[in-house]
Amino acid sequence: CGIVAYVGPKDAAPILLEGLQRLEYRGYDSAGVVVSNRGLKLRKVKGRVADLAKAVPAKFKGTLGIGHTRWATHGVPSDENAHPHLSTDERIAVVHNGIIENADELRAKLVAEGVEFVSETDTEVLAHLIARTVAETETLEEAVRKALKSIVGTYGIAVVDSERPKEIVVARNGSPIVLGLGEKEMFAASDVSALVRYTRQVVHLEDGELAVLTADGFHTFASGGRETAKEPLTVDWDAGHYDTGGYEHYLLKEISEQPESIARTLRGRLDERFHIAHLGGLNMDARETRSFRRVKIIGCGSAYYSGQIGAQLIEELARIPADAEPASEYRYRNPVIDPDTLYVAISQSGETYDTLAAVQEIKRKGGRVIGIVNAVGSAIAREVDGGIYLHAGPEVSVASTKAFTSTAIAFALLALHFGRVHDLSPSDGRRIVEGLRKLPDQIEQILKQGERIAELAKKYADHPSMMFVGRVRGYPVAREGAQKLKEISYVHAEAYPASELKHGPLALIGPDMPTVAIVPDDELLDKNLTTLGEIRARGGRVLMVGHRQPDAKLADDVIVIPKNEIELDPILLTIPLQLLAYHAAVALERDVDKPRNLAKSVTVE
Ligand code: G6P
Repeated sequence: CGIVAYVGPKDAAPILLEGLQRLEYRGYDSAGVVVSNRGLKLRKVKGRVADLAKAVPAKFKGTLGIGHTRWATHGVPSDENAHPHLSTDERIAVVHNGIIENADELRAKLVAEGVEFVSETDTEVLAHLIARTVAETETLEEAVRKALKSIVGTYGIAVVDSERPKEIVVARNGSPIVLGLGEKEMFAASDVSALVRYTRQVVHLEDGELAVLTADGFHTFASGGRETAKEPLTVDWDAGHYDTGGYEHYLLKEISEQPESIARTLRGRLDERFHIAHLGGLNMDARETRSFRRVKIIGCGSAYYSGQIGAQLIEELARIPADAEPASEYRYRNPVIDPDTLYVAISQSGETYDTLAAVQEIKRKGGRVIGIVNAVGSAIAREVDGGIYLHAGPEVSVASTKAFTSTAIAFALLALHFGRVHDLSPSDGRRIVEGLRKLPDQIEQILKQGERIAELAKKYADHPSMMFVGRVRGYPVAREGAQKLKEISYVHAEAYPASELKHGPLALIGPDMPTVAIVPDDELLDKNLTTLGEIRARGGRVLMVGHRQPDAKLADDVIVIPKNEIELDPILLTIPLQLLAYHAAVALERDVDKPRNLAKSVTVE
């Protein structure tokens, strides 16, 4: 979900609506705004921010306000369940991201006291709780702090009080809140993307922190009430980086940007002389780097699949055992934290709650965690002991593309770094450094095949289901390819290791279920070609992605990609699959950048 808040000399509503538009990728099933002007004025609707903008009348004036765009957790998307939520006396309005775990219990108590609820949300509980306390406290801040004490769960909130029309209180616990500092005006949002149009000076709240915003500035407080000192950070990206830049969709823009985003991930990090990687952000000397005996990688969704690519790179290049696991699973299975293991958390947004919670669990048990993160200053970036920033630039489309490839690059750098303090020879180091350098141009070459891939996508997208297969390096690529197709085109897709096909899923193969086969020209080429033969023998159609045209009997269509070092194959093999999913979604007229039911960063459990 997304939160925006504004206080200053200007009309709040247009600023809030603009901010919500920017945040829509975080959730988009309902939206609402409140402005304060001799009482609170509220508009909220089920639907998109554009629908809300239509519902906001011209005379919706007020120089202070809060807004929200929702991704439903408690209660279906509806006008009533949309935020902001008001207290019964309409004195207090609240917008909230996160989940209040004891909401049912609190609601029952409030109902017993005679409070009437109008929505099914957990958030409404907060509005009533604050309204009850605010009469007895001297400040809104104190009332919010008191109300939050009875809450179990996660939140990022913004609160306004009609009796104090010059201030907004925001608070964070597990769900991001960023303050934006303007000239005689203050902003707050759940994501910097809503702020960059107005300011690049930001302050991230920590968990447990609360802030009071007025037009003149802000004060932050720890949960106990002690005032905290915060240094503003300057955001590198401006509003232009958040536009579609002439492309029809953010997704296509972000796929097309990969030559540059990858070059940014590599910039200043490759050493041609010693064939090593410079990764200053790791904060680790050579002795420490040598001391780890294992690497454990965690992340969610596409981040997890890129972690699988990372684990293979580390094993291959550094010969350190490594594996990846979904952060959401990891954190709940009481994992053994091993002092000789290096933990790596991956997150584009740096705010995914499951990943953050896993990092906290590892740290609590004394483990050492580094982050591979795109969003500078995000919660995970602040929580880890060191790491690698992707510098991929803002990723807006819900489906991850450039962050995925940049993460794979970051792992190649990490593997090179570890490898060169272990046993990776200088000549192998050189091979990888040179291979990495070639990638941006090679991606450019693949992008030139866009039109042909669009034709193939049309041809294959009308099947109800598709199989994706790959072996070893190709397997995480297949998983990511299937994920992309599922999430944006809603075509069912399964990913299997090619070797596993014959142990079950081959039963599904037939004319109705085509296979996308990842077949790089590596040591497993012959094995993969055998699999293609097995698929074809069952009447299955094959779209192959690889380095050369096989025997015509083995594939109906082939997308040929340039040759690099085999360890780096997964990066190039992924690009055609991104384009395939994109064009399939376009052909099926899907909402490419905002697929149904999904959100860009899931800051709830
Ligand atoms: C959501 C998105 C996915 C993304 C995952 C992890 O589920 O829809 O595309 O891969 O979160 O996000 P992160 O920001 O942690 O990389």
